[in-house]
Amino acid sequence: MAHFLTRVVALCASSLRILLLLSFVFIRICQYACSRVLRTNRRKSVSGETVLITGASRGIGRCLALEFAKHGVSTIVLWGRDEEKLSSVKMEVEETGKARCHSYRCDVGDREQVYRTIQKVQEDVGRITILVNNAGVVHGGALLATDDDKIEDTLRVNTLSHFWTTKSVLPSMLANGRGHVVGIASTLGLFALPGVPDYVTSKFSVVGFYESLAAELRAQDRWDVGVTCVCPGHTTTDMFKDLTTRPLSLTPQQVAEQTVEAVKNNQPRVILPRVMHLTWVLNSWLPSSWMRTVLYVTGAMEDMENFCAKR
Ligand SMILES: NC(=O)c1ccc[n+]([C@@H]2O[C@H](COP(=O)([O-])OP(=O)(O)OC[C@H]3O[C@@H](n4cnc5c(N)ncnc54)[C@H](OP(=O)(O)O)[C@@H]3O)[C@@H](O)[C@H]2O)c1
Repeated sequence: MAHFLTRVVALCASSLRILLLLSFVFIRICQYACSRVLRTNRRKSVSGETVLITGASRGIGRCLALEFAKHGVSTIVLWGRDEEKLSSVKMEVEETGKARCHSYRCDVGDREQVYRTIQKVQEDVGRITILVNNAGVVHGGALLATDDDKIEDTLRVNTLSHFWTTKSVLPSMLANGRGHVVGIASTLGLFALPGVPDYVTSKFSVVGFYESLAAELRAQDRWDVGVTCVCPGHTTTDMFKDLTTRPLSLTPQQVAEQTVEAVKNNQPRVILPRVMHLTWVLNSWLPSSWMRTVLYVTGAMEDMENFCAKR
């Protein structure tokens, strides 16, 4: 009898969990539909803005520069460490004939260098009205196999740099009542995979940074400075080039297009591809053993193991 009752209770508990999961998915769909309707009224133009993009020498950063130029910004400031590649992106932007372009060598992992370079940019170019924190690194390796220096480097470049750049440009955005801060995080900032603990930690922190920045601004009733956090899944750039490309992989161009759209729509969070919303919801609701199965079945777990093995 006791055994029978335990089974009934367990069955009721899992049915309740599934019911709650379905209601949550339903609420998210309604939220999405409402935001689509409301968004048409909130759209803004990026024409005439001055955009600073970190990590603009290649990959997503390069595509962001070209995409912002296409949408009519007046000036684009590129940051990176590889001066040759930066000059080549600068030339590509200038060839479009749509925006002025400047490039600066800056290691965003070095706080003093960030502060010095921002000052120089403001003297040369003027106020930054859109900041895109995109620079990032991944080293790869399990916790015990990763050098302390690499862990610190990941957190400095992927997370701390967002504090330094944002602190530098936010005062002028607030003073002028106009601005937008964008962070390129990752779906690995929403759920974890093994083998990249420093990267996952840095991206969870980035997601938290933009949530807290938005909360802080809205608490001060400041709606004139937008905040957007973009969480792309696997994108075909140099960063995860050792990962097997899957049908759900994105191109850097797709990430750039969706990022500019999100800025124009004042969208606080973008998860790409959209189906990844499901993984995020499942991660919050499913028991962790089930979630592991989902990640195995989709091949994500195996992908990351192969990626780390090649490092
Ligand atoms: N690729 C993916 O699958 C994927 C998925 C989700 C999120 N993301 C995120 O998207 C962003 C862009 O990545 P990506 O795929 O375009 O990678 P990528 O092709 O490797 O480009 C990384 C960029 O970051 C710059 N960078 C790295 N360390 C830097 C430092 N210390 N100071 C200044 N710039 C630095 C690099 O410039 P230099 O070499 O010139 O320094 C380069 O321009 C990253 O934040 C990444 O975490 C990527």
